[in-house]
Amino acid sequence: MNSVNNSITKDTFALTTPLYYVNGLPHVGSAYTTMAADAIARWQRLSGREVLLLTGTDEHGQKIQRTAEENGVEPQAHCDRISATFQELWEKLNIQYDLFSRTTAPNHKTIVQEFLGRVWEKGDIYLDQQQGWYCVACEEFKEERELLEDGFCPIHSNRKAEWRDEQNYFFRLSAYQEKLEKFYQENPDFIQPVSRRNEVLNFVKGGLQDFSISRVNLDWGIPIPENPEHTIYVWFDALLGYITPLVEAGEEVTLANALKKWYPYSLHLIGKDILRFHAIYWVAMLMSADLPLPKQVFGHGFLTKDGQKMGKSLGNTLDPVELLDKYDSDAVRYYFLRAIEFGKDGDFNETRFVNTLNADLANDLGNLLNRSLGMLKKYCKGSLDDDLTISEDNPIKKIGETLCDRTSTAYNKYQFHQACEEIMELVRACNKYIDESAPWTLHKQGESQKVQEILYSVLESVRLSGLLLSPIIPNISTKIYQQLGFDYDFNNKNLTIHSEALKDHFKWGILSLNKDLNRAVPIFAKLELGEGN
Ligand code: MSP
Repeated sequence: MNSVNNSITKDTFALTTPLYYVNGLPHVGSAYTTMAADAIARWQRLSGREVLLLTGTDEHGQKIQRTAEENGVEPQAHCDRISATFQELWEKLNIQYDLFSRTTAPNHKTIVQEFLGRVWEKGDIYLDQQQGWYCVACEEFKEERELLEDGFCPIHSNRKAEWRDEQNYFFRLSAYQEKLEKFYQENPDFIQPVSRRNEVLNFVKGGLQDFSISRVNLDWGIPIPENPEHTIYVWFDALLGYITPLVEAGEEVTLANALKKWYPYSLHLIGKDILRFHAIYWVAMLMSADLPLPKQVFGHGFLTKDGQKMGKSLGNTLDPVELLDKYDSDAVRYYFLRAIEFGKDGDFNETRFVNTLNADLANDLGNLLNRSLGMLKKYCKGSLDDDLTISEDNPIKKIGETLCDRTSTAYNKYQFHQACEEIMELVRACNKYIDESAPWTLHKQGESQKVQEILYSVLESVRLSGLLLSPIIPNISTKIYQQLGFDYDFNNKNLTIHSEALKDHFKWGILSLNKDLNRAVPIFAKLELGEGN
């Protein structure tokens, strides 16, 4: 593997999705982060790294307790049911996660309390009176100036913030102001994309205030051992959900054991609404507990519907299961990662969904493979000469030879839409090359070498495209590979870990077509709006 290996400095990559609230069934917004995380994990594996992807559910706090009450079930039973629907969805979406963290798992309490003990000993926790407006949907205190008219939350515009006046334990965030600023300065890539980094820097510059890390009158959570009337604030509890499952089965549940192999994380992938928790609170908490810090936090944009954030609290969601029943996992993954610039907001629209998939996967890529294999069979009896030479000025070779570098750069910056665009550019160039060079005419003229060169360069480009698209559409990539004579399955982690088998495949020009390729079947059937495929 050429350029991919060069960009690797360390051979493990551990990343997380957020732990999703179980106040309702998963929606496309929650699936979005997970699809992106899975594509990153697959790309890193393809690049030769050992990867750990952790996802899970955030199950404590007032929001969950109230939802369970509204449904007339015990909170734990409620959490079990909803948490399972997330796992089922990840199965349907072809997400290859390694660990699933649940904040109601028994080990978790032990880790949270040990961590709290460290922060306590540091002198960073004290008791004080908390007065302020609390948004239960965000599980966060809001400044009065942040609220909309009549006290509604800006993110959950149908939820009024509630007034709280109670004794809470506080975390001394203000003590970390300078350390945090120094950390951001020394690690300019820590917060991505850059626009979000600036948001955080401005917020921190405005002066950090201590935040409360306990609640009273709330049973559904982990008690503070020193004062069990207080329950640990759901965010303080949930962030540690990134650490608990790292304890290997059979080992004693301690922070030291959890931190042995995979920690610190290379990446926390999150939505922009929870950036402050990850880029500020979490970092300060880890500093206080003297634990290593994550390498990067990436805050992506929102999926919106009519311009508003899609969410369970607003009730304007799109059901991913319905979408997956109608279309398949590759289609859903491709649309969201291809059509929306990662980092920015993007609206979902079914017409655009169908058009994007038909244009890229059915017409441009699918048709290219199909027509080229058809011609290979018709004009070359299904195979090409072994010693075929591709001329230096072959337009496809020129683009193909640098494709891997360009795509790697995009993937390494989590710019999936850009990676897809680079690949589709080659695919479109191949279609144009066929149309303009007209192999059917050349065949009639007896120009067998030229026909072979065209078909080779096109099929080799389709192969490379299939490989490079495999983090996003692994099933289609597998079909492409199999039609080109490789019995490789891109869902098989053993194929991609250390990528020995794929070592040379990142170069344009490795395909051998001296075998009889006779398996042309459509890789992606054209979609009809409203009917699915
Ligand atoms: N439980 C917290 C996270 C704790 S992490 C230790 C939480 N959960 S959440 O279910 O509300 O959101 C989880 C993730 O889904 C967040 O990254 C959020 O940005 C993302 N999304 C929720 N709705 C979304 C959209 N409409 N669009 C894109 N992402 C969205 O916050």
